[in-house]
Amino acid sequence: MVLKNKLNNSPGPIGIFDSGYGGLTVLKEIIKELPEYDYLYLGDNARAPYGTRSFDTVYKYTLECVNKLFEMGCHLVILACNTASAKALRNIQQKDLPNIDSNRRVLGVIRPTAEIIGNYTTTKKVGILATSGTVSSNSYPIEIEKQFPEIEVFQEACPMWVPLIENNEFNNEGSNYFIQKNIQQLLAQSKDIDAIVLGCTHYPLLLSKIKQYTPQHIKIIGQGELVAKGLKDYLIRHAEMDSKCTKTGKIKFYTTETSENFNTNAEKFFGTKVNAENLPL
Ligand code: DGL
Repeated sequence: MVLKNKLNNSPGPIGIFDSGYGGLTVLKEIIKELPEYDYLYLGDNARAPYGTRSFDTVYKYTLECVNKLFEMGCHLVILACNTASAKALRNIQQKDLPNIDSNRRVLGVIRPTAEIIGNYTTTKKVGILATSGTVSSNSYPIEIEKQFPEIEVFQEACPMWVPLIENNEFNNEGSNYFIQKNIQQLLAQSKDIDAIVLGCTHYPLLLSKIKQYTPQHIKIIGQGELVAKGLKDYLIRHAEMDSKCTKTGKIKFYTTETSENFNTNAEKFFGTKVNAENLPL
């Protein structure tokens, strides 16, 4: 737990957190929407993937990283990771923030996705592809039910997808087997699914393969743009938080792994080269 007096109250960058590289797909879209802000990206690559870890472990790791981002000057942190949003966000918001600093905020990626899902389905049958942790938390069915009780949600856990991506094996033949299998298993749950959420921020890297195994009439929904628009809206509605976010257009990248590994792989997610620093926790 970070002591309140260790935190600096001057305005700072927006923190973007993911277990590894996936959050870069979200940061890329946030920067398009809000280019004037400063950002600190933190990937916990040394401990990724989170998707198959227990609730307690994901919560502990996520809280450590959020505290680190607060210590580095962030007042607002986005968990650009569905697994962390599903397993750690509520505890952090309700239990930890009041003790750390009740004026700081942590937001996730599941709620902004659930809020707009109704625009994408006419059959009211939606599929979710996500990590085992996100699926077992039931966060998507719960959040979608709150917004659109008429929508039926079908989920499929894809435990191999993040390891394939993190290990740079996702373009190989072997990955096709797992991608096709999980999509078939999802679609076998209902023939009426007409929209699929990529409920893991790593999955946009698999988009061309996912499309290959999904019938054309089914819409595939990534989260980057949705989260970016949600954040823009949040900052308009919360002027007090907006005033605590610095705006010089700078982005810094940190990873808990070696920066060489991160810099080699990050470009595939972010679109341009990055120069990360190692951050020991
Ligand atoms: N990008 C994370 C998510 O959105 C991946 C989780 C993992 O590390 O397994 O769920």
